[in-house]
Formats: sequence, C-alpha cells, structure tokens
Amino acid sequence: MPISALQKARSEYQPKLPPALANGAVVNVAEGEPTSSVADKNEIKALFPNNFGKPRLAFSAKNDANSLNAPLNVGVVLSGGQAPGGHNVIAGLFDGLKSLHPESKLFGFLGGPSGITDGKYIEITKNIIDEYRNTGGFDMIASGRTKLETPEQFKQAEENCKSLGISTLVVIGGDDSNTNACLLAEHYAATNAGINVVGCPKTIDGDLKNEHIEASFGFDTACRVYSELIGNIQRDANSARKYWHFIKLMGRSASHITLECALQTHPNIALVGEEVLEKKQTLDEIVTEMASAIAKRSENGDNFGVALIPEGLIEFIPEARALISELNDILAKEGDAFSAMKGRSEQLSFLNHHLSKDASYTFSSLPVMIQAQLMLDRDPHGNVQVSLIETEKLLAEMVGLKLSEWKAEGKYHGKFTTQTHFFGYEGRCAAPSNYDANYCYGLGYTAAALAGAGKTGYMASVTNTNKPAPEWEAGGIPITMMMNVERRHGENKPVIQKALVKLDGEPFLELCRNRGRWAVETDYLYPGPIQYFGPTEVCDQITKTLELEKKHS
Ligand code: FBP
Repeated sequence: MPISALQKARSEYQPKLPPALANGAVVNVAEGEPTSSVADKNEIKALFPNNFGKPRLAFSAKNDANSLNAPLNVGVVLSGGQAPGGHNVIAGLFDGLKSLHPESKLFGFLGGPSGITDGKYIEITKNIIDEYRNTGGFDMIASGRTKLETPEQFKQAEENCKSLGISTLVVIGGDDSNTNACLLAEHYAATNAGINVVGCPKTIDGDLKNEHIEASFGFDTACRVYSELIGNIQRDANSARKYWHFIKLMGRSASHITLECALQTHPNIALVGEEVLEKKQTLDEIVTEMASAIAKRSENGDNFGVALIPEGLIEFIPEARALISELNDILAKEGDAFSAMKGRSEQLSFLNHHLSKDASYTFSSLPVMIQAQLMLDRDPHGNVQVSLIETEKLLAEMVGLKLSEWKAEGKYHGKFTTQTHFFGYEGRCAAPSNYDANYCYGLGYTAAALAGAGKTGYMASVTNTNKPAPEWEAGGIPITMMMNVERRHGENKPVIQKALVKLDGEPFLELCRNRGRWAVETDYLYPGPIQYFGPTEVCDQITKTLELEKKHS
C-alpha cells in the first residue's frame, strides 16, 4: 500500500521503554504478596484454582542479561474493537522476543480469536513489523469478536498452538477478551497443556483499568481525535450560531471517553451515564435537564451549543437498564424462537409476552426506531450493541418536543435546531499519539518478558506513565485479581470488573466544578489535531483523566 509522508516520518519514531526493559526482555522478576480478587473471592478461587492468588510481579533490569538458552515461539491475537497502538504492542512483543533469543518466532493469528481455532496465522517477520511501527489500525493481522469458551475450542486452539511450537499465547483485548484469556490460562494449566496465556489491556473505552493497570491503550489517542472534532464543531457552532450539536461518543458502557472529551473541550452539556444511574434519573428527567440548559442559554440569545452523550447512556437509565437486562436474558434463552419470527409486530408481541409488566411498559414508551435497535443481535459476549442505538437522535427529538411544549406554554422563546453526530470509528484506528505509541510498545515488550519468565494468567502492566519514561515501571498483574462474578447471557459468570466512571473521582469532580459555567457561557477549548512532532508540552500530553487521577492518588 502507498505510504503517506506522515507515516514515513512516523515510522522512524523510537518508542520509549520502562528502564526495567532497558537491557531486553530478560529481567529480574520480584514477586509481591499473594493476591485476591476484587470481589466474590470464593467463587473466583473455586473457578481458577491454578491461577487464583498468584503474586504481582515487578520487573527490574538485569545487568548480566544473557539471552534464553532456547528460542521461544509465541502466538499473538488481537481481540475485539480496534484501538490505536495495537501494532506497537505487536512490535514491542516482537522486539522483546528477539531480545530473549534471536531465533524466537512470533505468529500472528488472523481475524481475532477464531484465527487460533481455525489455524489461520502468519509468521510475523521483521519486514512486516517495520511496515507497521507506530501506525494505527489492527490490519497487520486483523481482529474479531469470536469468543473462545468451549472445551472443544480450547482443545482446537491447543492443537494449533502446539503444531507451531507456541509456548505462550498473548491476547490483546478488552475486559471480556482478557477474561477469556484467563479462562484459557486456567484450562491449559489444569490440563498441563504446556501453553501459557498472557493478556494486554486494550480498549478505547478506557474501562479496563484499576489500581495496577492505569490505562487501557487507545483511550488517549481516540479521545484526542474526538476532542479535535468536538473542538471544530464547537467553533462552527460559535460561528454559525444556529445549531445545537448533539454528539454521541463511543464507550459501550463506561462514560470515560465523554468525560475526557468534556475536560478537553468544555462543551455546554456532557452527560455521564454513571451519574444518571446514581441519581436514578428517568429519560424524561434527562430530557428536562437538557432542555432547561438550552432554554437558559437562549435567554442570552445563544441558540446554539454542543452536548456530549455517552454511547452507553441508555443502559444507565434505570428503567432502560432493567428492560435491557430482561431483553438480554430473553434473547439468550429464546434467541432461536425470536429469530424465526417474521415481521416486527410478531417479534414485538413475543417480547411483550415475555417481558415483565414494567419492562413492557418502558419498551412500549420508546420510539419505534429505538425499540428496533434494542432488538438487534447481541455481540458474542451477550452485550447490546449500543453503537447501533441512536441515543443522540432520541434525545434531540425528545428535547425538541419538550421545548415546543414550553414554547406553547410561553415558558421558552428561543430557537432549537439540531445536528446529530456519532464519533466512534473515526478514532479507533488513528495513528497512536506519543503516549499510546510508547505505552503500547512497552506493554508488548512486557508481555515478551512475561513469556520469557514462563508466566501465565497475567496481564502486562506498565505504570507511572504520567511521569517521564525513566520512571515507568513494568511487571505483571494476575488477571484473577481483577475479577468478580456478573450476570451475562442470563447466567452468573466470572468476568473482569469493568471500571466505570467514579463519581467521587477527580475527573468527574472537575467536570462538576465547571459544568454550570460551561452550560451558560461559551467557554469552548479547541485542542486541535494530535501532534506527533514538536515541543513536548504539545506532543507528550497525557489525558486529563490520568493527570487528575494521578494528582490525587
Ligand atoms: P472493545 O471493548 O472491544 O475495545 O470495543 C470497544 C468499542 O469500540 C465500543 O466503544 C463500541 O461500542 C464497540 O466497540 C463497537 O463494536 P464494533 O466494532 O463491533 O462495531
């Protein structure tokens, strides 16, 4: 494929590494205390007897770091949605493996986890890696959302890995994919398969993080792309002065992206799903709140503005949440019968028959367009595909109706014309920012060090990334440490706990401190495009979220 001028210059960028990896991926490994799970200790312990309780691992550089005696064959797979920096994880893994032993080999499974069971792979060579250094996208080996969960799939994956001499499989994915990585690690440990499994924290959504995993990669870059676009729209809004822009932002569950973008751009309205849940707000209350803010701005003659809406909002509105949970259970149990139905009205009466009275009432009160979107297929992990639900249009319509009512009652005299947008896919494959380029390369290299140390059931961790590179730390976190039991597909399942926006956390409190003013005034901030070259205060920024979390930790 042709290469742009930026791609060419960017391929020369040498990502920074934590000092522990300065002499290669053969490292000293210090073990911490035995660990537990974030919740449901007994259940997680019983389900993961071979992995539960493992210690945290901290790496330090080895002065006499000889390479391993024998080469290591490792497999890597990209799982789930794209996130900027995936290629750098693979590049870091590749370089780390070569530092362990120059004859080590890296095999990339194609198209996500199904590539492992179908035995579809390529050997990743230096030429391939060099083409993809510091680029966005997952196209080197592509991704997929197939879930590996059955003993047959595990066995097939084992046979395919063994035929390539793979002793460690690196799964680059979000919370669900890393949960599966842990299930795989447990299965292979229990059956003495001789295959280790290591995870890397990926997702633009920013919800795979905790005390020890300070960010999921891709969040930084994706938020910068959306913030640039929001800034541009704000400037357009402030120039034309005739539109309210309702912008939905990706983030399947948590509202981290919306919160971060709000902190980067100062919009008039930014909804946070977690707050909606906490306050048990109904859809009508949200609409009334938005309409009130819009009416207030119009009193100053400002009939324009920008509202940010998190993609996952609908699942945080208690009545919609209860409805979705029931729909998920029904579709998980009766999916075949449901799919066999012909026509919308037959499907609707089937669902209404199975839904509780309250859920059925909520369902009926939603516009037909949203009802249809709620009935669409779930992803392989049983989640509603919220990116397909047009909440921005729903809210624009409902706010418009509310303002019309107020106008008729003489309570509102402004004008309300909307433009709706959805930003998600625009940011997932952007060329990684310096932060993500470094962080991802470090995660991949750390995964190589975990493979070299023969560890399984761990997630690669690079921390202190709010500080300069010489202060970064690398190591491994037991995946079971992040797990609890949640209801999925109508059953209780062990899963990595999602990190939702903390309402007592500094990023959200910073929004609270400012949003009253941002609602009325036009205080827009225009961050502009990601800068890859130039002064460090422009190129090496960290997200506001990380900055605020670290400042107060
Ligand atoms: P991951 O959690 O797999 O990283 O995916 C995140 C995400 O980008 C969400 O923000 C979004 O809801 C979803 O993927 C969209 O999925 P798809 O790529 O299958 O359309």
